[in-house]
Amino acid sequence: MPEKYNLTSRVFHWLIALMIFVLFGVGLYMSGLPDDHPSRGSLYGLHKASGFLLIWLVVARILWTAVLTRAPAMPDALPARDVKIHKAVIGLLYLLMLIVPVSGFLMSTFAGFPVDFFGLFEVPLLFEKNRQLGGFFHEVHEYAPWLLMGLVVLHVLGAVRHRLADPGGPTDVLKRML
Ligand code: HEM
Ligand code: HEM
Repeated sequence: MPEKYNLTSRVFHWLIALMIFVLFGVGLYMSGLPDDHPSRGSLYGLHKASGFLLIWLVVARILWTAVLTRAPAMPDALPARDVKIHKAVIGLLYLLMLIVPVSGFLMSTFAGFPVDFFGLFEVPLLFEKNRQLGGFFHEVHEYAPWLLMGLVVLHVLGAVRHRLADPGGPTDVLKRML
C-alpha cells in the first residue's frame, strides 16, 4: 500500500480547500456590502460562478475517491479512536462540501437569479421562483458555511496535533497529504 495520497487526490484536496476558504471570505464580505457598492454585483457573480464550479469539482472528487482510487491505509500506529473520529469528520466534511454550494445554488434559483458562468453561459433556471424555498435555502446557506468551517478547524487540529506529537513519524498524517 502506498504511504501517500496520490497526486490527483492531493490536487483535489488542496484546490477545493483553497476555493472553500476564498468563497467563505468573499461570501461574508460581499453580503455585508451596501446594495449600491460598485463591487457588489461582480463579487456576487464571481462567488456564484466559482461556487457552481465547486459543486462539480466535489462531485468529481467523490467519484474519484469512492470509485476510481483507493486511499492509503491508515497507519497501524494510530489509535482506533482517532481513526473513528477522523472518518466521522471526513464523512461530515463531504456532506457539507455539497450542502453549502448546493444551498447557495438553490437559494439563487428559487429567487429567480440564474448563475452566469464567468460570461461563458448562463445555467438554466431549473425551478420556478419560490419565495418560501428561496428563504429556506438562504437560511441554510447562512449557517452551513459556519458548520463547515467548524469541522475544518477540528480536521486541521487533528492533523496539527499528530504532527506535533510525532513529526515525520508513522502517525504524522499531514505528510500523506503534502
Ligand atoms: C463552498 C462553496 C460556498 C461557500 C463556502 C459559500 C459561502 C458563503 C458565505 C459564508 C456567505 C455569507 C452568508 C451570510 O452571512 O449571509 C455566502 C453568501 C452568498 N452565497 Fe455562497 N458560498 C458557496 C457557494 C455558493 C454558490 C454555489 C452560490 C450560488 C450559485 C452562492 C450564492 C451566495 C449568495 C447569493 C450569497 C449572498 C446571500 C445574501 O446576500 O444574503 N454561494 N456564501
Ligand atoms: C476547506 C478545507 C478542507 C477540507 C474540506 C478538507 C477535506 C478533507 C477530506 C475530505 C479528506 C479525506 C481524504 C480525501 O477524501 O481526499 C482530507 C484529508 C486530509 N486533510 Fe483535509 N480538508 C481541508 C483542509 C485541510 C487543511 C488546511 C489541512 C492541513 C492541516 C488538511 C489536512 C488533511 C490531511 C493530513 C488529510 C489526510 C488524512 C489521512 O491521512 O487520511 N486538510 N481532508
